[in-house]
Formats: sequence, structure tokens, C-alpha cells
Amino acid sequence: MDRKTFYITTPIYYPSDNLHIGHTYCTVATDAIARYKRLRGYDVMFLTGTDEHGQKIEEKAKAAGVTPQQFVDRIVTGEHGVLDLWKLMNISNDRFIRTTDDYHVASIQKIFKKMYEKGDIYKGAYKGKYCTPCESFWTESQLKDGKCPDCGREVHDAEEEAYFFRLSKYAKPVQELLETGTFLEPASRVNEMINNFIKPGLEDLCVSRTSFTWGVPVDFDPGHVVYVWVDALFNYCTALGLFNDRYDDYDKFWPADVHIVGKEIVRFHSIIWPAMLMSMELPLPGKVYGHGWLNFNGDKMSKSKGNVVDPYILADKFGVDALRFFLLRTFPFGSDGNFTNELLISTINTDLANDLGNLVSRTTAMVEKYFGGKLIEEREAEPLDEELISLIRAAAGRYSAQMDKFQLHLGLEECFKLIQRANKYIDETCPWVLARDEAKKPRLAAVMYNLLEALRVALILLTPFIPESCAKGFDQIGADEKARSWDAACAYGVLPAAVAVHKGETLFPRIDAPKMLAELEEAEKKAKGPQIKVEPVLPEVTIDDFAKCDMRVCKVLKCEAVKKSKKLLRFDLDDGSGTPRQILSGIHEFYEPEQLVGKTVVAILNLPPRKMMGLESCGMLLSAAREADGKEELHLLMLDDSVPAGSRLC
Ligand code: MSP
Repeated sequence: MDRKTFYITTPIYYPSDNLHIGHTYCTVATDAIARYKRLRGYDVMFLTGTDEHGQKIEEKAKAAGVTPQQFVDRIVTGEHGVLDLWKLMNISNDRFIRTTDDYHVASIQKIFKKMYEKGDIYKGAYKGKYCTPCESFWTESQLKDGKCPDCGREVHDAEEEAYFFRLSKYAKPVQELLETGTFLEPASRVNEMINNFIKPGLEDLCVSRTSFTWGVPVDFDPGHVVYVWVDALFNYCTALGLFNDRYDDYDKFWPADVHIVGKEIVRFHSIIWPAMLMSMELPLPGKVYGHGWLNFNGDKMSKSKGNVVDPYILADKFGVDALRFFLLRTFPFGSDGNFTNELLISTINTDLANDLGNLVSRTTAMVEKYFGGKLIEEREAEPLDEELISLIRAAAGRYSAQMDKFQLHLGLEECFKLIQRANKYIDETCPWVLARDEAKKPRLAAVMYNLLEALRVALILLTPFIPESCAKGFDQIGADEKARSWDAACAYGVLPAAVAVHKGETLFPRIDAPKMLAELEEAEKKAKGPQIKVEPVLPEVTIDDFAKCDMRVCKVLKCEAVKKSKKLLRFDLDDGSGTPRQILSGIHEFYEPEQLVGKTVVAILNLPPRKMMGLESCGMLLSAAREADGKEELHLLMLDDSVPAGSRLC
């Protein structure tokens, strides 16, 4: 029999900066749901990827002096890039899409054309405020004090030819869809969408641009690129093979069961996305789930505020599983959460080191100590056992009721009820007292067995959240593959009567909070490095302009400090002409004169002579300059000594 399918997606990420813990939150949550569904026997497709087009990327690439493709490649596939991060976080996605992939681009062109041919996309004019130097359109609300938000200059009314999608046509069916109450969750987001966006009237959406080029070209109208959200949203279908032959599981997996998205992009997913699917006459996804935001110390995380939390540092200090666990245990999935390092440490210590870690280490240590690692088969049950055993039998059902509603923190709560009950059972049964009396061995064996069974079920339920630690835990308590399955999670008495255990490494060592907080501060400082100001690339010059600069290789014949000046050094240089040339340079802060004698440097010779401290400088030495931590640093340009004096730079 074919297994039931389950298709789940995360938003595809903008590779405009490296990802932070907020992005990690969304992907880890989606991963836990995908793993849970696999555990339940579903044939899962878990898609994630990157959304690589748009003006923002084009501008950032320009500022970095690279092509947009080079820019996104570095953030997606480079060291500590998106792919590295998902590998580190043990993300089990089945597929990864990049919107710059050829197959996706070609599919988007077909989709755009189809909506155009149907009459749902039409040509009109995009009206807005235009900033000529920046070549950018802005809406009234984007302006800062009525001026361009980028450069602060005046803007003027302007029109640009553009294509529009008839979003207004779909207002009614989209509202009906939202009102079903099952399409968009949590329920609070439904009213927000209807009241803030649909009721005031849905306007047609501008879906092409001509003011930049980094996007999917509209193939039937050169000069237009497809609006980045149209390009991005359809990734959920193209990644399965819609209008391309790169993949062929569209029929198997579409429509998606759930799109997991952050709250600020719920509007795109619950209004624009179903409207476009309706236009394309394609089935609608089952659900859009809008999760909350992670703030940091009460403030929105943002690169400009310098308060983004680096998942690499946290994973290194705490371990990937502990970090995954913290994110999903602490914050109710639909609401905002406040990330603090103190909360992270206390959650790990309380839940993982104390409750779970202690249960594993105490239980396995006792079976080793009292039974040499292998339980005896004789058992003596007591009525006291019943409460724990019925909880063992019920836990999976209670957990799945929450997990099926994506209430991940409540699913975890059910695991911890079982773990805490099992710890209490140790105190109630006092195994160390039973161990003193040989006749009580069967009773002691029953107690140990119940503890192992409680642990086994708890570990199954925790597997979607902390997969690696659970695998280690299963090995320690002697649970084979079958004993780790979902069916086994719903049963008591699965481990063999004479189960063999071994106490392994501590799964979650206790963290010394003050020491760790200091280490984190240090690591964050180090990771930030000096705050270097990157200069934007200057406007273009022609090769003829460049050729006007006479830059030559020179040998330093003599170098001395200029009296009464802190900065200036005086050089006599061999510029190849046979007559020494005098140049002054303000680099004494960075070099001592004796370091430079004999060096091969570069000077621009055809600047007008300039007097400084009564001395004439006939040219300028070239240095590399950068601003770090607000101070300028200069590095004199030096060449290999084999380059002869007088050689021209070209
Ligand atoms: N590219 C679009 C999505 C297109 S989907 C067809 C996008 N990308 S994003 O990189 O800006 O954001 C990706 C996801 O990360 C979003 O769901 C967003 O809500 C989430 N988060 C970004 N910062 C976050 C927090 N601080 N906390 C939780 N999630 C946040 O939007």
C-alpha cells in the first residue's frame, strides 16, 4: 500500500546576509515537524531553499564589487553559508531550491506567461515617487521626511510601465478561504489578514519591474523582470517539477500540506499565493502556519542594530541538539519569543541536564551496579507502578495530539511530564534500599524495567527534536530499531525482559552559567572582528581617465621623519629617471623610516607638487586604506623587489 504523503516547506531565505538564530528557529521547527511525520510513517517531502533575486541583492552585490550571482553563491554555498548552517543544525530537508536554478527560472517564465494569456496579468503603469540618482521607485510610505530613504535627496512623481496581477478579482474567494478557519493558523492571524488587507480593498499587484535587471526576465517583453515574490512563491511548485522536467513528483506531493512561515510574510502566503494559484487553476495548499518572531533581549534582531545571534557560536558552545531543543521548548510556536543567553542556559540545565540527563544516567548506572548491566527476568510488580505504566502508554497519544496541531512546545511538555514522573518514581521506590536485600531483586528489576520503558518512550518522542542525543540514549538503554518506532512508542513492555544496558557518556553536561556567559561574550566579540567600514564602489571611469594617472614603481633610497610632524615621512625615491624624487607621506603612525629603506613601492608621479611643513612633495605614495573600528589604517603598497624602478602600472 502506498504511504500517505506529507509535503512541508520553509520560506526560502534571502541570501543578503548570513542567517541568524531567527532564521534557524523557523527551519529547526519545520525540521522537527518533518521528522515527526516520518516517525509516523508518512512519505515526507521537506523543501527549503534560497530566494536569490531582487533589487536588494543587486545593490548589495554592486556595493561589494561582485556580480549578483557571485554574491549569492558566497552566502549560499560558501563557508558558514546557508547550506553549511543547515548541515550543522542537522536539517533533514529532502530538497533544496535556489531561485537562480535554470529550471526554476524557465518555469517562472511559463507561469507568468500563462497568467498573462489568461488575462490575469495585464500591462499598466506603476506610479510612485522616483529618485533619479538612485534610479529607485518608492511609495509614499517608504519615503523618509518626504525624501529618498536611501540618499535623502528630493524625489518626484513618476510612472514606469509594469505588469499587474488582478489580485482584486480574487478578493472574495481568498476571503472565503481564510474564513474556513483551517487554511491559516494560528486563528489570530486570520482576522489580521481580513481586517487589515482584504476589507480595505485588495488592489492589483505590480508584478514586474524595469528599474533593475537581477530577476527572472519576462520572456515576451524584454526589459521587464518578474516581481521577486511571484518568482519566490512558485518555488513550492517548481521544486516538484511544475513546468520543468528536473523533478517529477509534483503530482505526488502537490498540494503542500503546510507552509511554515514567519508572521511578517503571512500576507504573501495567505492572500497573494492562493490568488495566484487560483488564477493558475492549481490546487491550494492545505495550510499556512504563521509562527512568531524571536527577539533578542527584548529587541528585534537586526544586522544594523548589531544584535543578531550567531547560531554557529551557540551550536559550538552548547551542541546542536541542545540549541534545537531550546528553540522549540521555550517559545510557543505561534507567538513571539525573547531569546536570552541566560534563558538558554537555564533551559538546558533544567530540562536536559537535570530531568532527562539524570534519568538516563541514574537508570543505566543502577542497572549496571545492581545487575551487572543485564536485568534478570524475574519481576515483582506493585500497585505503585500503575501510574507510571499508564503514563508510558498514554504519552505518545497526548504528544501527537499537540504535534498534529504544530504545538511543538506542548508536544515537548508531554515528554517532560513522563520524564518528571519517572524521576519521581525513583524517589518513591528507592532502588538503593531495595538493592540492599537480595530477596528484593525481582522488585528492583521491575522498577528498573519500568524506568527503562519510560525512557524508551520519552526518547522516541524526543527524536524529532534532538535526534543525535536520542540515538545515543537508545544505545545506552538497549533499545533496538523496532523499540524506537512509533508503534513501540504507544506500547509498554517492548524492551526484552533481560535487557542489557550500558552507561555511556553524559548526554547533556550541566553548564556553569557565569563561566559560559563570559565565554559567549568573548566568542561574540571575536566573531564580530574589527568593525570594518566597506567603501561602496565609486562611479565608473573610462580607461582613458585611468590612463592619465602616471603610477610608477620606485625604490626607497632614503627615508626620514619630518621634524615637528607626527605623521609625515620624507622619502628620496629612485623613480627610474636617474634623479631622486622627493615625496612626503603621512604614514609615520604605521611605519618607522628604517623599515622602509630599500623597499619597492608605488607612487603616482603626475600630481601637482604640494608643500607640506615647508617641504615639497612631488607625487604621492600609494597605500591601501581601510576604516576599522572608526580609525583609518594605511598599508603602504609594496612590490616584489625584482620589479625595476620606473616600471609603469597599467
Ligand atoms: N525570501 C522571503 C521568503 C520567500 S518564501 C516564498 C523571506 N526571506 S527571509 O530570509 O527574510 O526570511 C525567512 C524566514 O525567516 C521568514 O519566515 C522570517 O519570518 C524568518 N525570520 C527572520 N527573522 C526572524 C526572527 N528573528 N525570528 C523568527 N523568524 C524570523 O522572507
